[in-house]
Amino acid sequence: MRNTIMSVTSAGALLVLVVAVAAVSGLTLGPTQKEECATGKYPPPKTAEYQVPKYVVNLDLPAADRWTHIVKERAKSIVNLLTQFKDFLRALDLQVAEMFINYIDHNFGNLTNTLPEPFADEIKGISKATGIPLGEVLMYNIFYEMFSMCTSIVAEDPAGKLYHARNLDFGLLMGWDIKNHTWVITESLRPMIMNIEFQMKGKVVYKAVTYAGFIGAITGMIPDVLTLSVNTRFSLTGGKIGIIEWLLGDHSSQWVSFLTRDVLTYSTSYQQAKEKLSQVELIAPAYYILGGNYSGQGCVITRSREKALDIWELNPGKGVWYRLQTNYDHWKAPLFVDDRRTPGMRCMNQTTQQNVGFAGLFNVLSTKPVLNKLTTYTALMQVNAGKLETYKQHCDDPCWPW
Ligand SMILES: *[C@@H]1O[C@H](CO)[C@@H](O)[C@H](O)[C@H]1NC(C)=O
Ligand SMILES: *[C@@H]1O[C@H](CO)[C@@H](O)[C@H](O)[C@H]1NC(C)=O
Ligand SMILES: *[C@@H]1O[C@H](CO)[C@@H](O)[C@H](O)[C@H]1NC(C)=O
Ligand SMILES: *[C@@H]1O[C@H](CO)[C@@H](O)[C@H](O)[C@H]1NC(C)=O
Repeated sequence: MRNTIMSVTSAGALLVLVVAVAAVSGLTLGPTQKEECATGKYPPPKTAEYQVPKYVVNLDLPAADRWTHIVKERAKSIVNLLTQFKDFLRALDLQVAEMFINYIDHNFGNLTNTLPEPFADEIKGISKATGIPLGEVLMYNIFYEMFSMCTSIVAEDPAGKLYHARNLDFGLLMGWDIKNHTWVITESLRPMIMNIEFQMKGKVVYKAVTYAGFIGAITGMIPDVLTLSVNTRFSLTGGKIGIIEWLLGDHSSQWVSFLTRDVLTYSTSYQQAKEKLSQVELIAPAYYILGGNYSGQGCVITRSREKALDIWELNPGKGVWYRLQTNYDHWKAPLFVDDRRTPGMRCMNQTTQQNVGFAGLFNVLSTKPVLNKLTTYTALMQVNAGKLETYKQHCDDPCWPW
């Protein structure tokens, strides 16, 4: 009962904020408005506007040195992002913001020691290499995973080959630029997108997509074995309480995007990854979207902090050739002002299984409002080919703000 009231309240609060933002931005809301499914978007132009760089992270190096070559080169954009975030806080309330920033810069960094290795040392290494206060690097790395709006799809083609694709949308409610019709944080993140190859002894162990300075994995794959993405699951009784417990000294739960790094590092099969992602206690609720390397191996794991509430699987024998997940439990209706599920599924249905592939999936993920002002990138993965392609995304007006 209490849970129900709290989630109704949180959905209500989100709705009010969302409508307020829409009003400010001068956009007309029309949940029934239908966009044509995009076609011919793949491959996107070979320009810096769409392409992302590739870096190697050598797992044989001490954790503190692994990210140095990347973050030194990208320090300016990380500082810029953090500055935008601080400006956003100051605009809300100058005095509270200064107190908060002061706490982050001078006290929060100590909590890095409560993270498991190698994550603690990696974060310390990034702070040292860039000169950015440890507390700010830590905040960037943990704050991030709780507020991403996303769409993930796992699908198989008629031959039983598995594909996995996702949009990563981030920056909701953090500073709407009235002049440019953009989200300030989203714009700052886009130039920081990169593909990473994690190597051991010169060989690729796994691949992931990230933002410079962010060490967790939200999108990744182990070539020949599995593909994985994470979508945020909102729940008032989940994330925030988990973080408060952690701040108060209970460090028994795992961070959502560190568990995925663990899974990518150590898993040897789809089945093993599925069990781990279903069972490990988490700091925040989440959706894990997982694909294997064999027909039928694909699922959406809906996680509470404690356990898997539901595992929603492909079933090619029964005509279920894809699963599409946004930020709402699949057995419930999405928030009506944020329905990316219906247009996404409509376009998947229209694409048909015959056209499952990078082009088909990229078109679906380039259709508004699946593509919106928060979308930073689209990633495409094919496990047997070991292929991971990432493209920066842009949504030209008229476009939904989320
Ligand atoms: C951080 O840790 C150091 C070393 O343990 C300690 O001296 C310092 O007081 C701590 N700072 C805070 C704010 O807890
Ligand atoms: C808004 O757009 C203008 C012109 O394209 C650009 O110079 C400016 O930096 C943008 N503002 C932000 C906050 O991105
Ligand atoms: C699929 O993964 C399993 C390990 O989970 C591996 O034994 C098998 O060779 C892989 N198959 C392909 C086609 O890569
Ligand atoms: C897409 O197809 C599935 C399976 O036939 C169906 O359940 C679903 O309602 C369709 N969704 C849309 C939005 O067309």
